[in-house]
Amino acid sequence: MKVMVVGGGGREHAIIKKIKENKSVSEIFALPGNGGMAGDATLVPIGAKDIDAICEFAKANGIDYAVVAPDDPLVLGCVDRLEELGIPCFGPRANAAIIEGSKVFSKNLMKKYSIPTAEYEVFDSAEAALEYVKGCKIPTVIKADGLALGKGVVIAMTRKEAEDAVKSIMQDKKFGASGNRIVVEEFLTGPEVSVLAFTDGKCVKPMISSMDHKRAHDGDEGLNTGGMGTVAPNPYYTADIAAECMDRIFLPTVNAMNAEGRAFKGCLYFGLMLTPDGPKVIEYNCRFGDPETQVVLPLLESDLLTVMQAVTDETLGACEVKFSDKSACCVIMASDGYPERYASGFEITIPEDIADSVFVAGARLDGTRLLTAGGRVLGVSAVEPTLEGAIASAYGRVEKISFENAFYRRDIGARAMKAIKERKA
Ligand code: AMP
Ligand code: GLY
Repeated sequence: MKVMVVGGGGREHAIIKKIKENKSVSEIFALPGNGGMAGDATLVPIGAKDIDAICEFAKANGIDYAVVAPDDPLVLGCVDRLEELGIPCFGPRANAAIIEGSKVFSKNLMKKYSIPTAEYEVFDSAEAALEYVKGCKIPTVIKADGLALGKGVVIAMTRKEAEDAVKSIMQDKKFGASGNRIVVEEFLTGPEVSVLAFTDGKCVKPMISSMDHKRAHDGDEGLNTGGMGTVAPNPYYTADIAAECMDRIFLPTVNAMNAEGRAFKGCLYFGLMLTPDGPKVIEYNCRFGDPETQVVLPLLESDLLTVMQAVTDETLGACEVKFSDKSACCVIMASDGYPERYASGFEITIPEDIADSVFVAGARLDGTRLLTAGGRVLGVSAVEPTLEGAIASAYGRVEKISFENAFYRRDIGARAMKAIKERKA
């Protein structure tokens, strides 16, 4: 069986390594992948947003199954186009991917179906938005409607910051057309939890919970990044909270999408905040999270491709999705300076004995040498019986990897460990 994975980051590397475990897979193509995946997949230099070229490649190469991992191609309708060619896919169609593609859509969906989320207002003119933030409660949260590489959210701690955010998004078009409309929403507090869930539009099977570390520096300081590390499971996400989320958030969301004629099939990502008033949705993503995937999939005991095919065939209800009861940690090694300016082109050395636990995100091949080629360079993961052990193992492996200009947080998992200790006390 020939499988194609669209995308090129650490998330895609984790997906590819897991799909490789299925014996019926003869070849995996990564479009475009990156040099660090060359040992696991055939790299095809086609960009993840080049839908025409992706479709041509799939047809010409007899692809039997496609996994579309990033948000952009999903929102652009990559799955719709591949399905028209008769190629079974994992990932939502464009009409369902809008749950991530438009924050206005997702907020209105939650309101219509009483799914708990922050109170909000929508604006399509800067003047009206500026008038509103003059009087709204501070802190407040300003969100560009469309995709903005994960950067379209501003937590405004002062009124001035709120006004500046409205101006830069709506008037200066910092995120282009994504900022034609904005959501201004209530500032919520509480621990954050990421829950990725398989859904075939009929049933929903949540994966093990995880915790991202979005800020660049230790102690959750510094700029927001794509994610500097993850742990799973998330100790704040107890069995009681999981049951509540299933009843009040996961099932209602899947049912709401069906009722809107937008059945969601694929991985639905629930970004949750456990507020004093109960769990609320901070965001939906229409795809696997990155770097959540790098801790969630290593804990998946069921065969990933089998589960994905059950989603495609709408037989997920009869398919076992089993997770290990161990814990996982992933530490992202980035280029110093990320998420702003950074230098790249430095040689990366990864010892053979730990290569299986390394998911490469930003690297390219120069002959046989692997060079850094991105902000987030790679993720180093570990699975151990306890979270404490997983953190120690992941950092032990980080020590064995070297490239010039490497930067990583030293406290991935520290907050989760604190929560575990507090609970025991
Ligand atoms: P997003 O890009 O939607 O994931 O938002 C980025 C981050 O902003 C989230 O992970 C939260 O930490 C924070 N955030 C988003 N919405 C809110 C909110 N309503 N209240 C507090 N923090 C928020
Ligand atoms: N780690 C957050 C995301 O994938 O959007």
